Amino acid sequence: MTLRTTSLAILFGIAALPALAESSAVAGIKLAAGQQFFDAECHRCHAIDATDKSYGPPLEGVIGRAAGSVDGYPYSKALKSAGFVWTEPALKAWMEDNQGLVPGTKMRHVGITDPVEQEFILTWLRHATKAN
Ligand code: HEC
Repeated sequence: MTLRTTSLAILFGIAALPALAESSAVAGIKLAAGQQFFDAECHRCHAIDATDKSYGPPLEGVIGRAAGSVDGYPYSKALKSAGFVWTEPALKAWMEDNQGLVPGTKMRHVGITDPVEQEFILTWLRHATKAN
């Protein structure tokens, strides 16, 4: 095994066992990976800070926020009336199949089906979107 495959195996192993305590090195790697995935898959449409320009709704404070509830954002009817709160499992389901979760949403299908990638993005969201 090369060093690269070894470290990937370690990353994947740990991601599959979230109940184990993580070393701070692993937590840092997950956060950096999550930021890279977020930058590649989400950032062009979503600002984090509510005060920044954002094509999609800003994601500040999204965990625990009611779906479709940012004041003044022109949501689709579907998301505005979805009637649920953004929990961590809901965010994973959204990344996996947003149009399946909320048919009629105007967010383009992103289709992140890899649970490891979902977990990394969620790790980043948890860190970066904490409301100030
Ligand atoms: C092509 C632009 C685009 C991309 C890429 C995109 N989004 Fe969105 N997103 C939107 C739009 C537009 C909406 C509003 C949908 C609606 O009103 O139906 C939205 C809505 C959301 C919401 C609901 C927020 C709320 O206030 O209810 C979340 C959460 C979200 N996106 C997360 C993500 C994540 C995580 C990614 C990356 C994996 C991502 N989005 C990628 C455009 C995008």
